Amino acid sequence: MAKTLKPVFVCCECGYNSPRWMGRCPECGHWGGLEEKAQFPASGPGRATVLARAGGESRPVAVDQVESGDEYRLAVGMGELDRVLGGGLVPGSAVLIGGDPGIGKSTLMLQALASLSAGGHRTLYVSGEESARQIRYRAERLDALSSELYVVSETLLERVLELADEFAPQVLVLDSVQTLYSSGCESAPGSVSQVREVAFRVVQAAKASGRAVFLVGHVTKEGAIAGPRLLEHMVDTVLYFEGDKSHAYRILRAVKNRFGATDEIGVFEMRDRGLAEVKNPSAAFLAERPPGAAGSAVAACMEGTRPLLVEIQALASPTAFAAPRRTVLGLDANRVALLAAVLEKKAGLPLTSRDLYVNVAGGMRVSEPAADLAVCCAAASSHLDIPLPAHAVLVGEVGLAGEVRGVSFLETRLKEAAKMGFTRCVIPAAALASTPIPKALTPTGVATVAQALEELFG
Ligand code: TYD
Ligand code: MG
Repeated sequence: MAKTLKPVFVCCECGYNSPRWMGRCPECGHWGGLEEKAQFPASGPGRATVLARAGGESRPVAVDQVESGDEYRLAVGMGELDRVLGGGLVPGSAVLIGGDPGIGKSTLMLQALASLSAGGHRTLYVSGEESARQIRYRAERLDALSSELYVVSETLLERVLELADEFAPQVLVLDSVQTLYSSGCESAPGSVSQVREVAFRVVQAAKASGRAVFLVGHVTKEGAIAGPRLLEHMVDTVLYFEGDKSHAYRILRAVKNRFGATDEIGVFEMRDRGLAEVKNPSAAFLAERPPGAAGSAVAACMEGTRPLLVEIQALASPTAFAAPRRTVLGLDANRVALLAAVLEKKAGLPLTSRDLYVNVAGGMRVSEPAADLAVCCAAASSHLDIPLPAHAVLVGEVGLAGEVRGVSFLETRLKEAAKMGFTRCVIPAAALASTPIPKALTPTGVATVAQALEELFG
């Protein structure tokens, strides 16, 4: 006999489940928030209704018998955004764009829709934060006025879905998910259950209608309890828009993508008239490099499939404290502390008596160990007050024994360095024989950090 499911009560604030009703949620302390949720009936007429509403009864099919969807993608027409999306928007997909308030999410979305509508696609921009007039001002400033770009200021989800059906845009933007609310859920806009409900309904509507949807979500400093992190598993693609507000550069990073590579990045520059694509980020990040200054080293990093040269700056100065300071921007602070210890023990640099400041120029963030060698050499260069050779690029992971280890995609990294006019590369000794080195570069293979310092500073 089919097992009948018990009713379940769910807290509309935090999602806590209970088999019985309670006045106060034991999880979050919210009063009167537990609502009875309909369970899937194992049999009877209720079952047919529920199944019909869900779009019919599902059946497994052999994987080679599944109809393959055509690989159609809608190109937004902004190269950097299209690449991060994996070659354009997939119809029926939901894309979450997260980022700090004021970083430029609304600007990016409006420009993306303007570009789509210039290509003849109908688009709808729903804002819960700005009035239609404010959106128009922004659109004027961005040169984004178009008769195929519709805008509306609305916060009620049901109305938004109605409008989407009526106007049938190919691409819909909801800015932001925290300001929308569904009449089906009683908690306040921006609360966990509202955000979850809104996102769920939007994703379902996107799948059913074949429209692509961008959901904008703010990340808050307090750790984003009702922010995009909660939604990451519900949507197809998650992009984070990040950057230092005091710098013009903005980086769009794919952290999840069901239709493309993750860790892909797109680089933009915030200007007076909106975001401009940065087609050659290596050149941009190296543009202001001080010539002949000690403490600056260039690392060749990978961001997704794309090589990127970044300048690592270090400053080692005598410390006034018992425990020296290690201040790090754009890199993992623990990693830098580890490298400082390796430099001390394996290369004889007395860094325990030095404060060490390390920064990645241009507000970039580097998260891969391939930049280790550049960090070490920048620190050593500052400590010794000897500049590194101006046109040398450094690649290699540094281990605790002071050894320089191989990295992935070395050839791609070196090609980028050659393209950017570098003439010398310092790479792991083990990779020297096996990697094709571009003609423009004179390679130096190093097996240990001590050897690298010896080669570079004598
Ligand atoms: P916005 O897109 O409103 O950020 P978000 O939606 O992520 O909160 O961007 C706001 C910032 O961008 C604001 O500080 C002003 C700046 N900005 C420019 O520098 N140039 C422009 O053309 C626009 C529209 C905004
Ligand atoms: Mg905004």
